[in-house]
Amino acid sequence: MKKIVFATNNAYKLKELRQMIGDRYEVLGLADIDCHEDIPETADTIDGNAQMKARYVKEHYGYDCFSDDTGLEIDALGGEPGVHSARYAGPGHDSEANIDKVLTKLNGVAQRTARFRTAIALLQGDQLHMFHGQVEGVILTERHGTGGFGYDSIFQPVEGDGSTFAEMSPEQKNRISHRGRAVASLVDFLNR
Ligand code: IMP
Repeated sequence: MKKIVFATNNAYKLKELRQMIGDRYEVLGLADIDCHEDIPETADTIDGNAQMKARYVKEHYGYDCFSDDTGLEIDALGGEPGVHSARYAGPGHDSEANIDKVLTKLNGVAQRTARFRTAIALLQGDQLHMFHGQVEGVILTERHGTGGFGYDSIFQPVEGDGSTFAEMSPEQKNRISHRGRAVASLVDFLNR
């Protein structure tokens, strides 16, 4: 079986990927290759960050590798928080603080369209391949639902029954989500 590294410490993302990829690849997480340092993510685009992480693993550990990066783009905020989604409310703040910041900035704003975008960078040998997924939606005025993570409770995808991502099962969300779509393209490519 070919070995490939998914540059993540997120056990949920790893499990999901392993289920989707089948038995041609053994997918290793960062812990599996004893990579415990903070990999720099200082690019100003999600494509750049995904590539940075994949290159780091390839250069320091020698494995073929893929890495993902996601951003929430809110049109009324000029595309913010975008590449800064994880730390929008500042270092040391959590998702709840990020949501509060978005809701405050959008207070009284009628135009609430937004999208999640995911970029996946795959380095196979010296070849770089990029995969993308996105989902359109609107930012609600308050939280709905308790599932998911990040901005899920205020993001209502256009496709669907009016539920937020936080009100969907993981399967429902993955079918239409930014990351679900990008991962499906990656898996399709790897299994070709
Ligand atoms: P990452 O690149 O997957 O780590 O995502 C960066 C940030 O975007 C996360 O810290 C979350 O705040 C947000 N985010 C990513 N994916 C999702 C999602 O599926 N739902 C809600 N928020 C997300």
